[in-house]
Amino acid sequence: MRSKIIFCICLTFVLALGMISSPQADEFTKEDLKKWEAAFMEVVLEGEKLFHSALGSNTVSCDMCHPNASNTHPETYPKFQKQIGEVSTLRDMINWCIENPLEGEPWKLDDPRMIALEAYITWERRGMSLAPGKH
Ligand code: HEC
Repeated sequence: MRSKIIFCICLTFVLALGMISSPQADEFTKEDLKKWEAAFMEVVLEGEKLFHSALGSNTVSCDMCHPNASNTHPETYPKFQKQIGEVSTLRDMINWCIENPLEGEPWKLDDPRMIALEAYITWERRGMSLAPGKH
């Protein structure tokens, strides 16, 4: 009986310690999940539209050179990009293509359209293993 009580006290202590020391994720419901997934897919679809549109000063669109986001390699970022000359993010490289092949002005990195393009590109390449820095 006594050892059971001691065991219970120890268990409570260990559990309490676990709760203090390990970060706990916020709780969420199935409805939350559905809502968040729908919000994400809306942004992906917006990105898909942009990817097929002329976003610069000419008539060129991303899909002409990267059909279905091919050769965009989001899983390799951040990595050294020779066009930029330093370790760059996917968004830096999206801007590089907006400025060069599309002859446009670069977008702010937190522009909702930039986030949409990133969402579309990474969604198309989902399932790839992360390979930061890879060429
Ligand atoms: C005229 C063809 C062309 C168009 C149009 C184009 N790109 Fe690119 N894109 C390139 C080339 C060339 C590279 C450089 C490949 C390299 O050296 O890594 C590149 C690289 C990229 C990369 C990095 C790929 C990697 O392997 O690291 C991304 C991301 C990218 N483009 C996105 C876009 C987006 C988004 C658009 C539309 C805004 C776009 N591109 C339009 C030709 C194009």
